[in-house]
Amino acid sequence: MTRPVILITRRLPDAVLDRAAADYEVIVNYDDCAFPTDQIIDMSPHVDGIIACYTERFSADVVAALDPRVKIVANYAVGTDHCDLAAFTARGIAVTNTPDILSDATAETAMLLLLGAARRAVEGDRMVRTGRWDDWSPSFMVGKQVTGGRLGIVGMGRIGQAMARNARGFGMEVHYHNRRRLSQDLEQGAIFHDRLDALLAVADFLSLHCPATPQTQGMMTAEKFSKLPEGAVFVNTARGSLVDEAALIGAIESGRLAAAGLDCFVDEPGGNPDFASYDRIFMLPHIGSATVKTRDAMGFRALDNLDAFFAGKTPRDLV
Ligand code: DGY
Repeated sequence: MTRPVILITRRLPDAVLDRAAADYEVIVNYDDCAFPTDQIIDMSPHVDGIIACYTERFSADVVAALDPRVKIVANYAVGTDHCDLAAFTARGIAVTNTPDILSDATAETAMLLLLGAARRAVEGDRMVRTGRWDDWSPSFMVGKQVTGGRLGIVGMGRIGQAMARNARGFGMEVHYHNRRRLSQDLEQGAIFHDRLDALLAVADFLSLHCPATPQTQGMMTAEKFSKLPEGAVFVNTARGSLVDEAALIGAIESGRLAAAGLDCFVDEPGGNPDFASYDRIFMLPHIGSATVKTRDAMGFRALDNLDAFFAGKTPRDLV
């Protein structure tokens, strides 16, 4: 029996590539640069499926131009905002993602950003690194205490719940806003707010964990930042497109935000150069899921989805 041909758009972990090669004919982008979509289109007559990352943008035009041979795009990502899902549905091409397995790694990054922003990690690191640490005083490098603070979580899915677990380890009081209230066993004492504004009003720390959709796009406007308590700390490990970045700078300048921790930006890669002059913005280059364990698990999950699909079953993570 001929084996399906799979295009793998980035260099995935070795263990994942080994498993893929054992079960499929694979074409791998060993150069590991973001795979230009015109090349994906050119190669599409030769492949039955694609393992893609969020760096490949499947707009409606790209999806429309894919050869009918392509039957599935198994994403190596939980977010699917790089895919025009309606266009995929119209073409009858299955799309899957990798939920669950990256929740802990991403929530870990959110906690790192929250702590680093609140305790002024950017300034402190730079001061020591550049030999400018020459004093200590009671008012030196004073930040905002996380332990016992009040955390607001927007989006209480799997990653939001993992963040809530982390926060409880710091004795934080957890509040959340979500489309639906969770059951009590999932809430674990977290306080539900059915309106975003009600959550913002109590969020001394605010962390975004919702997907980027037309409804959430640009949700953190100047007006929303102004609803936060004075001196709040804002964290985003979800998607840059949720945030009006000029409004974020305005909130930092006015002191409404004491600090921000960001792992994602409107423009990626690269980020927003306007943030660079603000020590109170602690930034990472979209590495929420970047641990060995999680990156392996994401690849295996994408392969599980392909295996199910080519065995004629419904993949577990069909979106
Ligand atoms: C995801 O999985 O959505 C990450 O943000 C990028 O891979």
